[in-house]
Amino acid sequence: MAIPVILDCDPGHDDAFNILLAAAHPTIDLLAITTVAGNQTLEKTTLNARRVCTVAGIEGVPIAAGRDRPLHGPVRVAASIHGESGLDGPGFKDPTVPLDRRDALTLIRDTLLAHPRPVTLVPTGPLTNIAAFLLAYPQLTDRIERIVLMGGSTDRGNTTPAAEFNIHCDPEAADIVLTSGLPVTMLGLNASHQVLATEDVIARFTALGTPLADICTEMLGFFAGRYREVFGLPGAPLHDPLTVAHLVDPDLVTFVRANVAVELTGTHTRGATVVDLHGVTGRAPNADVATVVDAGRFWDLIVGAVWALGAHQA
Ligand code: BDR
Ligand code: CA
Repeated sequence: MAIPVILDCDPGHDDAFNILLAAAHPTIDLLAITTVAGNQTLEKTTLNARRVCTVAGIEGVPIAAGRDRPLHGPVRVAASIHGESGLDGPGFKDPTVPLDRRDALTLIRDTLLAHPRPVTLVPTGPLTNIAAFLLAYPQLTDRIERIVLMGGSTDRGNTTPAAEFNIHCDPEAADIVLTSGLPVTMLGLNASHQVLATEDVIARFTALGTPLADICTEMLGFFAGRYREVFGLPGAPLHDPLTVAHLVDPDLVTFVRANVAVELTGTHTRGATVVDLHGVTGRAPNADVATVVDAGRFWDLIVGAVWALGAHQA
């Protein structure tokens, strides 16, 4: 039976590919998409979710907008990586996929209540919506199967030397999720930097020859260009789709069980994930933390998803 999933995201180039993978793969039953401020403002990430669904022909999946700012502190966006639109690169027409009239928390609530089985939440942006949901609806936590998130790192950060973007944007929200007692799987930068969209990888999308694949080529071209410029990397890490790829193929990523604490007060380290890989703190493990990724299998999944969604356009 397919895994029922809600994506909570801030598209974002890599979020966009996660939507494509979740919609395309028969192992996933994509129930809803909710959006959050992160890579760009809420207005832009919500528009981008509708754009991605429109170009990929993803219809009938409700999309609802969530929080436009973190629980605490200022709004931060990642224009230097994702551009002014949050999804720079391709030209998009106006989306035809509608916006659900409910807010994200209401859509998550309704979706959990309507589904006969517990649902997996997959956040790939700041954890604001998810934390707000856990605070607002504590009686519904038994309807959540697990939380599989992209964020944090066992190593260093990408937004400050210590902090990864999603956690840095809303550390209090991340703390609420990681201390919720729910099963949490964390796929962080140390894992996502093993799946770089290099020129060779991008050429595989170009070779598909469908209009959707052309848009994917343009998205990855822009994304890789930014990572080359900002970080000197030979390609862009396709962070977010590691979440759904792990659900689809549980052996694709190796994990260690560990305690993850979020730094809330550090002068230079706010938003860092302090991962106790060797159990030296005595704190109980609260997450499965990704370590090693089979990059070849990952890219086969992503290319396969783009082909499956776009094949009828060929
Ligand atoms: C995370 O931040 C965003 O830029 C990406 O979409 C990803 O979710 C990586 O740090
Ligand atoms: Ca994201």
